Amino acid sequence: MPASIRSICALSVFLVALAACSEKQAETYTPRIAGGDPRQGKTAIRRHGCGACHAIPGIPGANGIVGPPLAKMARRAYVAGKLANTPENMIRWLLDPPRVNPSTAMPAMGLTESDARHIAAYLYTLE
Ligand code: HEC
Repeated sequence: MPASIRSICALSVFLVALAACSEKQAETYTPRIAGGDPRQGKTAIRRHGCGACHAIPGIPGANGIVGPPLAKMARRAYVAGKLANTPENMIRWLLDPPRVNPSTAMPAMGLTESDARHIAAYLYTLE
């Protein structure tokens, strides 16, 4: 087989594998949160002023640059580079970041458990 055809074959195998990976990732990282309502999450994000520190898609005025942008939060492997990105861990982080990582710059925002659930539900709509 000529080299050019061989490399086209190799490329298409690679592309198929890549497509399979990203599909799998989307499946894995789109958890649903029991008791979490993304619409209430949106309101809670605005009420708590998360946008002062984070750029958050879909939240008017949320364009802070102190913390990382929260785009594609549903697809990330980790929360704050510390915890596997599962609903439980996301809620844990939102409720008390310094408890997860004492040297983090994100303060505990005084969220109630239900605020944290709603916010997590909203963040998981960001794919
Ligand atoms: C005073 C600034 C500040 C405020 C206010 C703030 N955060 Fe953060 N946030 C940060 C910083 C800084 C980080 C990065 C922390 C780290 O990696 O240790 C962070 C990390 C995060 C992460 C993890 C992001 C990632 O890339 O893994 C999430 C999710 C998050 N914040 C959500 C929120 C939500 C929701 C609110 C509002 C309830 C909020 N933050 C309010 C500063 C802030």
